[in-house]
Amino acid sequence: MSAIRHFLDLDQIPAETLRRILEHASKMKAGRKGLPKGAVEPDRPAKDRILAMIFEKPSTRTRLSFDSAMRQLGGATIILRGDELQVGRGESIADTAKILSANVDAIMIRTGNPKVLTELAENATIPVINGLTDDSHPCQVMADVMTFEEKCGPIRGRKLAWVGDGNNMATSLIHAAVLFGFRLDLACPEELQPSKAVLQWAAARQGQIYVTTDPVKAVADAACVITDTWVSMGMKDAERRHRILAPYQVNDSLMNHAAKDAIFMHCLPAHRGEEVTADVIDGPRSVVFDEAENRLHVQKAILAWCFNG
Ligand code: CP
Ligand code: NVA
Repeated sequence: MSAIRHFLDLDQIPAETLRRILEHASKMKAGRKGLPKGAVEPDRPAKDRILAMIFEKPSTRTRLSFDSAMRQLGGATIILRGDELQVGRGESIADTAKILSANVDAIMIRTGNPKVLTELAENATIPVINGLTDDSHPCQVMADVMTFEEKCGPIRGRKLAWVGDGNNMATSLIHAAVLFGFRLDLACPEELQPSKAVLQWAAARQGQIYVTTDPVKAVADAACVITDTWVSMGMKDAERRHRILAPYQVNDSLMNHAAKDAIFMHCLPAHRGEEVTADVIDGPRSVVFDEAENRLHVQKAILAWCFNG
């Protein structure tokens, strides 16, 4: 690993480091009970630091949580929209990385093409954090692991199920399954299977990853059922996806095949009546707002790790 602590993808970071980041997140979360949201951490790990956040796609949680995280760590943020930067007029990512490195202390980027993230990291002299690409969403999955463990205890050896599109979230969950040692069953239509490369990566590490087209089989006795939107940001074939994914809706009848005390997770934003029914997402098994809150605590621990490099 390079001396610069980039947070690009879970498979590029040692499992022990990911575990330490989660422990730090939980510790900071516990320490904030009763404090105002703007209260700054006593040790200010981002004191005098600036995080630039580039958004080439919309965001509610990622933007809010990184911004609040930096303030709570004693630092500041600059938010840049992709279409307002000169990259939109042809300036190279490499040059942009150098300019950002001269002005700020870390970069968080949400972009479609994962090559933009890689190129930024290769040319930056400061940490780069993946705030979602079309291929992965590692910060979200860290919050999901944290949430699972808060609700259900250690994740190692447990069975979780993914139902729906084999998308960016599915890839990061497969990474997490291998690195945190849990079993992951994915039910995806033939046309929307998870990336072959990530499945091969997991198989080479004896990951407990099982892919099926049958949602009932995937969720059987699972401790947690996870889904995501049928149409991710930037996907153009909405009508086809709705048709193919209709049998993959997470509803009460599907949840009844999971373990009796199974929880439901969704990274949000959700579309009630599509990938999940309101009964499930607004019901007692849903932990979606805990996941969303944990984005903040995880983001802080990721930033603290990046800055301590
Ligand atoms: N889950 C998530 O990343 O949400 P946003 O798209 O709102 O950032
Ligand atoms: N798969 C979704 C996740 C949103 C947080 C998307 O890429 O739009």
